[in-house]
Amino acid sequence: MSQSIQSVRGMNDVLPDQAPLWRSFEDTARAWLGRYGYREIRMPLIEKTELFVRSIGEVTDIVEKEMYTFADLNGESLTLRPEGTASCVRAAIEHHLLYNGPQRLYYAGPMFRHEKPQKGRYRQFHQIGVEALGFPGPDVDAEHILMCARLWRELALDGIRLEINTLGNTQSRARYRARLVEYLERHFERLDEDSQRRLKTNPLRVLDSKNPSMQAVIAEAPRMAEDLDEASLEHFEELQAILRNAGIEYEINPRLVRGLDYYNYTVFEWVTDRLGAQAAVCAGGRYDGLFAQLGGKPAEACGFAMGIERLLALMANEAQPPAAAPDAYLVHSGTAATQMAWRAVEQLRAAGLDVVLHCGGGNFKSQMKRADASGARFAVIIGDTEAAANQVGLKPLRELTAQQSVTVEDAILRMRSAG
Ligand code: HAM
Repeated sequence: MSQSIQSVRGMNDVLPDQAPLWRSFEDTARAWLGRYGYREIRMPLIEKTELFVRSIGEVTDIVEKEMYTFADLNGESLTLRPEGTASCVRAAIEHHLLYNGPQRLYYAGPMFRHEKPQKGRYRQFHQIGVEALGFPGPDVDAEHILMCARLWRELALDGIRLEINTLGNTQSRARYRARLVEYLERHFERLDEDSQRRLKTNPLRVLDSKNPSMQAVIAEAPRMAEDLDEASLEHFEELQAILRNAGIEYEINPRLVRGLDYYNYTVFEWVTDRLGAQAAVCAGGRYDGLFAQLGGKPAEACGFAMGIERLLALMANEAQPPAAAPDAYLVHSGTAATQMAWRAVEQLRAAGLDVVLHCGGGNFKSQMKRADASGARFAVIIGDTEAAANQVGLKPLRELTAQQSVTVEDAILRMRSAG
C-alpha cells in the first residue's frame, strides 16, 4: 500500500464535529456586523505580489519571510493573501467604491503566512476583517473598539484586554524616527543582526523584535509620545474620551507598533493570557496613507481583523452548540419498497424535513442501527408490505412509542407537530 498523504504543515481540516462551532461563531459574527451597518465584500485569495509589498511594507516579517509567492504560467509573481486590508483597499480603488461616500465593509476567510506553526499560529488561518473606508475618525476608530467589546460579551469571552497606542501622523513619525535612529546607532552593538539591518531600512520595526536579548535596549528606547504634534495628540485624546465614556477599559502600550507598515494614528490589539505566546486575538488601526500608496485618491480609513482559530480556542471551554441531527432516517428493503423510498424521501424533503436515505443495502436490523446512530428523531420504514399499502412505518427513535403505519402526508404532519 502506498503511503497516505498528509495535509500541509500548519494547514488544518475543520472536521464535522468542529464545524458547528465554526458555523455558530460565523453566524454570531455576521449578525453582529449587520447590526453596525457593515456590508460583506469578497476578494480573491490570490493577488499580485506587488500589492502586499507596497502596502504591508518591504521590510516586514510578512513580506520578507512569510508569503506564499509563486510565478504563474505567464511568469507573473502572485501571492496567497497574508491578510485582507490590502485587497480590500485595492478593490475599493478598482471599483470606485468611495464615489458613493464612505463605506463600512467586512470580509471573512482564509489567510496564508509561512510562520512557524504552533498552538494558535497556523500557516492557513481564518480572519474576520472589518474596514471603514473614507472616515477620518477618531469616532469610527472608537466604533471598532466598541464593536469588539460587544462581540466578546455576546460570545461570553472574558479575559481579553485592550491595548492601544498612537503612531501619530507622518510628520510626528518622521521626528520620532530620527530620534530613534540616533538612539539605536548609539547602541548598535547591543542590536541583533536583524535589528542592525532594520535600523537602516525600517527602524520602527526594531521595537517589534521578539528576541529576548533585544528587550532591554527596546525598553530604554525613546518614546513616540514626545514627538506627537497637536493633531496626533488630539486624535488620540478624542478616541480615549469616547472609550472612557463607554466604560471600555484599556491600557496604553507605547511599544505597540504592529507588524504591518501601513498604520498611522490609532493602533490597537486585544490580547489574552490564555493562549500562550499567541496573545493577540484581534488587532488593527488607522491607515490613512494606504489609498494613495496603492495609487488611489487619498482617503482616510481604519479597520481590524480577528483570528478565528484563536477565538475558537478561547470558546472551546464554553457550551458547544448541539450537533445537527436529521428529522428522520429512511430505511427500506425490497424492490417495490426502494422505488417508493426514492419518491417518499423527496416528498418529505419538499415539506421541509431533513431526511437521510439509507444507502448501501443491508437488512432492516442493520439499517435501524444506522438510523439510531444518526441521531434522527424518527425512522421512516418502508418494506414491500408498506409499499403495497402505499404507507410508511413511522417510529419515534428517542421515546418508547410503538411504530405506526401512516401515509407519507400523515408522517409529515406528525413529524412537524413533534417539533
Ligand atoms: P494582524 O495583526 O496581522 O493584522 O492579524 C490580525 C489577527 O489575525 C491577529 O490578531 C491574530 O488573531 C490573527 N492571526 C494572524 N496571524 C495568524 C496566524 N499565523 N495564525 C492564526 N491567527 C493569526 C492584520 O492582518 C490586519 N490586516 C488587520 C487590519 C485590518 N488592520 C486594519 N484593518
